[in-house]
Amino acid sequence: MESVWIRNGIIVSASRTFIGDVIVAEGKIDQVGQALQPPTTQYIEIDAKGKYILPGAIDPHVHLQLPTPAGPSSDDFYTGTKAALIGGTTTIIDFVTPHRGQSLIEALSLRKKEAEKSLIDYSFHMGISSLSDTTFDEMKQCVEQEGLNSFKAYLAYRETIGVDYLDLERLMQFGHVLNAMICVHCEDGPAITALQKHYLSQGLNTPPYHALSRPPDTESSAVAEVLRLATVTACATYLVHISTAASIDAIEKARDIGAKVYAETCPQYLLLDEQRYQEPLPASLAYIMSPPLRSKEHLDACIRGLTSRNLDVVSTDHCPFNIKGQKDVGLHDFSKVPNGGAGIESRLGLLYARLVTTGLIPIERFVEVVSEAPAKIFGLWPRKGCVAPGADADLIVWDPEYHGVVKAVELAQHCDHATFEGLEVRGKADYVLCKGNIMIAKGEFLDSVSQGKFLKRS
Ligand code: URP
Ligand code: ZN
Repeated sequence: MESVWIRNGIIVSASRTFIGDVIVAEGKIDQVGQALQPPTTQYIEIDAKGKYILPGAIDPHVHLQLPTPAGPSSDDFYTGTKAALIGGTTTIIDFVTPHRGQSLIEALSLRKKEAEKSLIDYSFHMGISSLSDTTFDEMKQCVEQEGLNSFKAYLAYRETIGVDYLDLERLMQFGHVLNAMICVHCEDGPAITALQKHYLSQGLNTPPYHALSRPPDTESSAVAEVLRLATVTACATYLVHISTAASIDAIEKARDIGAKVYAETCPQYLLLDEQRYQEPLPASLAYIMSPPLRSKEHLDACIRGLTSRNLDVVSTDHCPFNIKGQKDVGLHDFSKVPNGGAGIESRLGLLYARLVTTGLIPIERFVEVVSEAPAKIFGLWPRKGCVAPGADADLIVWDPEYHGVVKAVELAQHCDHATFEGLEVRGKADYVLCKGNIMIAKGEFLDSVSQGKFLKRS
């Protein structure tokens, strides 16, 4: 493998920014510094003058090829990770979703097969959809033998994969014993089901009623209870896709009393508001996701959550479905629309435009929320998420001058629409390296065979 000499870029980590060079050898970062000498071996030179050199972004919440009654989410591990690379993401954490009664280890081995097409390194959070006498031992095996140390419980979707608070408490006790992270989808499933029935029984079946059946309190009340459980169990807890002001206030208070709690939000809760549900059908089906889009007040609270550090990560919850043939199965019943949107390709450009160029956060915080924090929270640090000797050479050369807008027709993702269509993006991944391989050059994807490997986390 040829060495790579990236010269004269602005190297950024959460704590430090300086102009320098990065030398990559054998898939690892070999040297980082100023005015480095060229590598002694044959090398490729990248001039990064005026550009940032960032650690490859990590997206710890994606659903590629997620099975649903409307068919799998429309990006598989190849198309989804190609889209990720174009957007500057070099590592993902997806999910294993065992059905009730299925062995976790069996479900993991099937999911690993599906992920073999991945172009980038990947890991999984193990879903826990029910608890049995063997759950603890299987979780132990995941942690100790499989390098898989985060688990996910859903408080929504009780009919299929969701759990109740009693099971969640047991799961968090197990998590504490195993020193594992428990990720929780905080939405009050029974309250949502009751509201869905209420609206549908009156013939109120269009997308605005998706949002009305999942009001902010259905999230915040679940967050409050999970924070209580995090405190009593002392379990490390990660709250996914936070979208309300009250949730963020509660996270701050729980941290003040010592709860080991981490939280993420997603671009959709920073950039898209509930007015989207008023768009005509079928376009408005695109925004059926859970939690739903919120009012401007909540969007502002999520931005404040990032600046105040009460939110740690911006992931995408990338889970696209085509409108035609997938989301439109729920044209006359919002509760049948497969939930989710697409964000993996545009995450960095959208956030750079909304947060960095406006001065809301500095570039260092941007690097932290898209790369360094997820690496640290999920046991990938310092192999991933940093520009330092010895780390995997997962790097982005980021051109901050690029201006554009999201257009579905220009995206590599496999979906018939773009969730963020028409929104401004600033900055672009000019080069992306994965373990030293140049995967994107001058903004173009270089066709390559799968380089992605399952990551054992610690
Ligand atoms: O609407 C969403 N978020 N779909 C993906 C699955 C989930 O709930 O995270
Ligand atoms: Zn999700």
